[in-house]
Amino acid sequence: MRPQLSDYKHLSAGKVRELYEIDGDTLLMVATDRISAYDWILSTPVPDKGRVLTAMSFHFFDMLDFPNHLAGGPEDERIPEEVLGRAMVCKKLDMVPVECVARGYLTGSGLVDYNATQHVCGVPLPTGLVESSQLPTPIFTPAAKAELGQHDENVTLKQVATMVGEELAEKLKDATLQIYTQAATAAKERGIILADTKFEFGHDKDGTLVIGDEVLTPDSSRYWPAESYQEGQVQPSFDKQYVRDWLTSPASGWDRASDTQPPALPEDVIAATRARYIEAYEKISGKSFTDWPGSAF
Ligand SMILES: Nc1ncnc2c1ncn2[C@@H]1O[C@H](COP(=O)(O)OP(=O)(O)OP(=O)(O)O)[C@@H](O)[C@H]1O
Ligand SMILES: [Mg+2]
Repeated sequence: MRPQLSDYKHLSAGKVRELYEIDGDTLLMVATDRISAYDWILSTPVPDKGRVLTAMSFHFFDMLDFPNHLAGGPEDERIPEEVLGRAMVCKKLDMVPVECVARGYLTGSGLVDYNATQHVCGVPLPTGLVESSQLPTPIFTPAAKAELGQHDENVTLKQVATMVGEELAEKLKDATLQIYTQAATAAKERGIILADTKFEFGHDKDGTLVIGDEVLTPDSSRYWPAESYQEGQVQPSFDKQYVRDWLTSPASGWDRASDTQPPALPEDVIAATRARYIEAYEKISGKSFTDWPGSAF
């Protein structure tokens, strides 16, 4: 008999995930179907999104040449039936309070920093780069983890060294760039650009640096279709484009500048977005989502 979710102590709720304690050394991380857009958590979930993201994390943890926090497989007997397919059993880590971002392309807050200073997180870049330009080489652009509801703050490698020590800062940088390069190469072979991504690392009981949290999901990464890539313009988002397009269309009646909760998504936008998530997983992993555990909606 599998345990019930209520058997575990609930530790915290993120925007999208819920964290439970299995025992003193072990956590259960559950990905819900909540979806965010323009910094809002939408009132309408996208069915199966949590299962798709969990499948992607497992796929990449398995592929990457770096130790990770998994303490069991997707069907581990400690996972309650009700969250099967959307949960990871993890070693509890002592987390390093740095969001380790790698960027291979310039967009988002990286582009904002570049336009203001020609640097991103202290890394100097050549002149003439524009929206979505590929960088000469991937760069490490860390951020300090902010309180709930606040944006993480971009910092330099030097600032990371002040926070965690020079040796660990260098290790984080090397690991982040190495893992990004491995994943970006794999994605490219499947027609997808991994523009940037964020990792979180921690130390396990033996003091080994391991990669934790989720990895290389659309929530922690920017994935772009390679075939439509064009420098100089904002790229369509692999997963959330339908949501963004509808929210900013007259049909939604929502004013992005209004600081009010966006309206519920219509059925067809939810269905199209769900299909995009599944397509992204299948394209990136080469696996069929039908085979993933847990019950489909
Ligand atoms: N193996 C681990 N051991 C301990 N803590 C972990 C482990 N893996 C991830 N974490 C932490 O668990 C938390 C997961 O929470 P989650 O990402 O859902 O919320 P959040 O980071 O507080 O907010 P956000 O929704 O903005 O990401 C993070 O604080 C993360 O650093
Ligand atoms: Mg988080």
